[in-house]
Parts: sequence; C-alpha cells; structure tokens
Amino acid sequence: MFQDILTERLCLRSLCPDDADKVFAYRCDPGVLQYQSWEPKSAEEVRSFINSMLTREFNVPGWYQVGIERRGTRGLIGDCGVHVLETDSRIVEIGITIEPASQSMGYATESINAILELLFERLSKHRVIASVDPGNLPSMALMKSVGFRKEGHFVQSLWFKDGWVDDVVFAMLADEWRLAHQLPG
Ligand SMILES: CC(C)(COP(=O)(O)OP(=O)(O)OC[C@H]1O[C@@H](n2cnc3c(N)ncnc32)[C@H](O)[C@@H]1OP(=O)(O)O)[C@@H](O)C(=O)NCCC(=O)NCCS
Repeated sequence: MFQDILTERLCLRSLCPDDADKVFAYRCDPGVLQYQSWEPKSAEEVRSFINSMLTREFNVPGWYQVGIERRGTRGLIGDCGVHVLETDSRIVEIGITIEPASQSMGYATESINAILELLFERLSKHRVIASVDPGNLPSMALMKSVGFRKEGHFVQSLWFKDGWVDDVVFAMLADEWRLAHQLPG
C-alpha cells in the first residue's frame, strides 16, 4: 500500500480497480504511448495490473505505480511509476504520465517534487534516476525543471518499438535535493 500524499493541488494515492478505464483511456493516446513501453490492449488488462499492485508493498524492490488525482475531484489525471532497484534498494527510478488534457499545467512537476520529498526525506534514498528519450521534449524539460542533473546520453542504446533509440539518463542525489531545499545534510 501507498500512504496518500496531499500537495497544493493533487492527491497521490494507490491505484484502485475503478481507475482502470481512465488509465486505459489516457495510456491509449498516441502522444502518451509514443515513448512508453507499456501499451495495454484493454481496460481489463489495466484492471488486472492494478489488482496485482493491490497486494504489493511500496518501497520494496520492483515497480509500484502511484495514482495522481486532482484534489477534490474523482478520477485520475495520471500516474507515476516508482522502481526501487533490485540491485540496491537505496536507488530508485521514476517515470511519470499525465493525461493530455491536464498537461502543461505543472502537475508533473508538482507530483515529482512530492515523490522526491518522500524518497529523500522520509525513505532516506540515496539516488533517484530517470531515463528519457531525447526526442521526448516535454519529459526532457520536466527533468531539468525539477532539478535533475543530466548524467549521460547513450546513443542508440535501447531497442524500442522496432528500432534503436537514444537514452538520456537524469539523476538526483539526496545531497543535491538537500542543497536545493536548504535542508541540513
Ligand atoms: C512528460 C509529461 C509527464 C510532462 O507533464 P506535464 O504535467 O505537462 O509537465 P509540467 O506541466 O509539470 O511541465 C514540466 C516542464 O515541461 C515543459 N513542458 C510541458 N509540456 C511541454 C511541451 N509540450 N513541450 C515542451 N515543454 C513542455 C513545461 O514548460 C515545464 O518546463 P518549465 O518548468 O521550464 O516551464 C507529459 O508530457 C506526459 O505525460 N507525456 C507522455 C508520457 C511520457 O512520455 N512520460 C515520460 C516518460 S519518462
């Protein structure tokens, strides 16, 4: 389970089976699909994925998908994947999706800041990373605007949807988070 996080405009919460239709709808959008490997074929597939998530703990090795909802409304506007690495649980990878109608309103920035606060301040993680296709301009802008450091640009390093693609790795260390937020080390 995931303990709800309230931000100024959002509620980050566990996904529930009732979210399946909404998740399926925005994850079928061509703009959302373009850089994502998960392409659900039906709402049923999403529902069974959500059901499998219900029995998972947050902050254990593996992926956990957190729902993003606007406060005071029903229905998701997106989701954020949090991957505690199997090789070292102090390192976490994140990935985020916001439905097209709610993009460019700062919701991804607000969600990621809340997730980073949870990971660094409450769960004492050491390093958070994100992997972005350099052609994904909104995602590249997002990573820079939340303060991630570009660590590397790997050329044609991933086989994705029938072709080799580049991969840009972004990272943030706990020390960098503390410095940016003027917290004691
Ligand atoms: C990437 C994504 C999550 C950004 O969500 P969002 O809620 O629109 O992002 P925000 O409104 O918080 O904006 C974050 C930054 O991106 C910029 N941005 C947003 N949409 C943009 C666009 N279409 N083109 C260029 N920059 C854009 C914003 O200007 C902002 O930068 P700034 O702070 O310097 O102004 C969203 O576009 C999305 O879900 N895309 C499809 C799924 C995907 O590819 N996810 C990434 C996988 S890692």
